[in-house]
Amino acid sequence: MKLSYLMVMAFVFAAQAVASGTVSGSSGATEGKAVLAVSDETLPGTAQGNVPTAMTNVYGRDYTLLNGKWNVIVDLYDQGRKMEVYRNRKPQKPEEFYEYSFDGGMRLNVPGDWNSQYPELMYYEGTVWYARHFDAVQEPGKRMFLYFGAVSYRCNVYLNGDLIASHEGGFTPFQVEVTGHLRPQDNFLCVEVNNRRTADAIPALAFDWWNYGGITRDVMLVTVPEVYVSDYFIQLDKHRPDVIHASVTLSDAVSREVRLDIPELGISRDLVTDGKGQASVSFKAKKLQRWSPDCPKLYDVSISCSGDSISERIGFRNIEVDGTRILVNGEPTFMRCISFHEEIPQRMGRAFGMADAQMLLSEAEALGVNMIRLAHYPQNEYTVRLAEEKGIILWQEIPVWQGINFSDAGTQAKAERMLTEMIMRDRNRCAVGFWGVANETKPSPERNAFLTSLLETGRSLDTTRLYVAAFDLVYFEKSTGHFEMHDDFTDNLDVVAVNKYMGWYHPWPVDPSEAVWDVCADQPLIISEFGGEALYGQHGSSDETSSWSEEYQARLYRDNIEMFSHIPNLAGVSPWILFDFRSPYRFHPTNQEGWNRKGLVSDQGQRKAAWYIMRDYYREKRQ
Ligand code: GCU
Repeated sequence: MKLSYLMVMAFVFAAQAVASGTVSGSSGATEGKAVLAVSDETLPGTAQGNVPTAMTNVYGRDYTLLNGKWNVIVDLYDQGRKMEVYRNRKPQKPEEFYEYSFDGGMRLNVPGDWNSQYPELMYYEGTVWYARHFDAVQEPGKRMFLYFGAVSYRCNVYLNGDLIASHEGGFTPFQVEVTGHLRPQDNFLCVEVNNRRTADAIPALAFDWWNYGGITRDVMLVTVPEVYVSDYFIQLDKHRPDVIHASVTLSDAVSREVRLDIPELGISRDLVTDGKGQASVSFKAKKLQRWSPDCPKLYDVSISCSGDSISERIGFRNIEVDGTRILVNGEPTFMRCISFHEEIPQRMGRAFGMADAQMLLSEAEALGVNMIRLAHYPQNEYTVRLAEEKGIILWQEIPVWQGINFSDAGTQAKAERMLTEMIMRDRNRCAVGFWGVANETKPSPERNAFLTSLLETGRSLDTTRLYVAAFDLVYFEKSTGHFEMHDDFTDNLDVVAVNKYMGWYHPWPVDPSEAVWDVCADQPLIISEFGGEALYGQHGSSDETSSWSEEYQARLYRDNIEMFSHIPNLAGVSPWILFDFRSPYRFHPTNQEGWNRKGLVSDQGQRKAAWYIMRDYYREKRQ
C-alpha cells in the first residue's frame, strides 16, 4: 500500500493530537501521560497545529539554547529501550540496582557529531543515548516546544520518562510541544539517536561522505504565545520586479488580526486570518531594491498578531529561466558555483555553527563564486543565512543520492517529508534559488514516479524557485562525436545538472577542444560536478592520473575549462569540491587515507594549484 505523504501526515497529526492529550487514541496514552505510538518505523517529527513542520524562523523567537555537554550512553546492541534508560532511575532500596547511569560517564558536545569527539566513535554506527537536565518556567498563557535543528539520522525523544516524539532525517529540523509536560526544576530530556544506514533510508546504504551521527545542530526550548505565527512566506513574484506575495499561518485554526510591516518600503498591511488560521495578501512595492549577488539587500520584515510578533530580514529577487539562460532579476547570470559538504576538515567533524559558516563561506568567497551547491543535503541555518547576507545564491537538496529504494512507499514518504521540512525552513531565504531533488539517479519508472511526486510536493509549497537534479549519464557518442545524455525525466526540471569527471573517471575520448556537448540543448545546463583528486603538496606528472599530483589536477581543470567553451547551453559550473572531505569510499593508503581528495583546498585549509586556475576562470566569467 502506497503510504501517501498526506496519509503519513494524518498519522502524525493523530499522534500529535494524542500526545497533546486532546483525543484518546490507541497509542497507549495513559492518564496524564502522552505516549506516541511508535512502531519500528520511526515517525517523522511530530506535527503541530496548522503547519506539518517546525515553526518558521525559530531564531527569531523567545528561546533558550540547550546546547553544551550532554551525558551519553553508547548502546551498540540497542538494549537501552528495554532497560528504559530514558527513565534515569536510581536505586531506592538496598536490593535495587541499575546497569546504567548517565552520571559520571562519557559526555558529548551538543551540537556536534560523536565521530569527531572520541577516537573510539570515529566509525561508530549505532545508538547513542543523550541526556541532560534542565529547568523550565512554564508561563501561564504560553506554549513551549523543544526544537532540534537536526539529529543524524533518526531519533526518539523522551521527556521525564515519556516518549514524546520521533524523527527520521539527518538534516532538517523538527519540534515537539511540551506545554504542560515540564516541571519547574530538573526536567530530564533523553534522546535516543541512531545513525545506522538502512536500505529504506535517505541516503541509503552507501554514500560518498562520512556517516556522522549525533545531535548535530542546536537544541532549543522555545516559548511562544497560546496562538502564535507558526509560519509565513514572503517573497517577490516569480517574474514581476515589484509585486510581493505574503502568506501567514497561525498555530491554530482561528481568525485573528495580523499585521505585516516592511518599514523601509513603507508597507503595512492588516490582514485577518480565515477559519483555518491563514491569510495572504499581494501588493506592489515601490522603490524595491532587489537582492542580488552584487547587492544582497535585505529588508526588516515583521509579522504580528495578538500577543505574538516575529521579525527577520528578508530579501526579494526574481530567479527564472529564459530558454537556456538563468535570469536573476531579469539579468542573464552565469552560475560561478562551488560545492562543499557540511564538514570542517581540520576538525574532522560536521559543521554546525556561525564560526563554521564563516570559515566555509570565506573560502568560497575567495574563489569568486556567486553560488554554492550545499551538497548533498540541507545544511544548517547559520550557513544559509550568512550566505544570503554575502549575496551567494544557494542550491539546496535532499540526500536522494544514487541507490535509493524508489519502489518503497515508506522511503517515498520520507523523501516528501525531508523536502517539505527543507522548503518550509528556508523558503523565506531569497538566497535559495534552486531546490535539488536527486543526485545521480538511474532512469526507471519507479525513479520517475518518485521524483515526479517530489516535484509536485515542492511546487505546491514554493512556485518560484528553480527545480533541479544532477545526473551522471552523459556519455561520448562516437557516431555523432558529441557528448550526449538521454534521460526522459529531464523535461520535468527547470534546470538540468550534470556531474561529469572528464580526465578523472573518464579519459578524454577527444581533445578537450573538440569535446562538443549536445545535452538537453533547450534547457539551461549546469555542470554540477567535475574535477579530480590531488594530495596537497604532492607533485608529479601532469599526464598521470595516478600521480594524485597538484600538477595533474591543475591540468585537469584547464582541460575541463576548455571543454566548457563547447557546451552551448552552459549556464554554470561547480567544481567538485571546495575542501577535501572524509569518505569511507576512499581506501588508498597514502593518497587518500579515508579522504576524498577532490578538494581545491586541502583538509588543512591549504589551496592547491587548481584553486588558482578556478579563481582566474571565475574572474574572467565575472567580466
Ligand atoms: C559523485 C557524487 C559525489 C561524489 C563524487 C566523487 O558525482 O555526486 O557525491 O563525492 O562523485 O566521486 O568524488
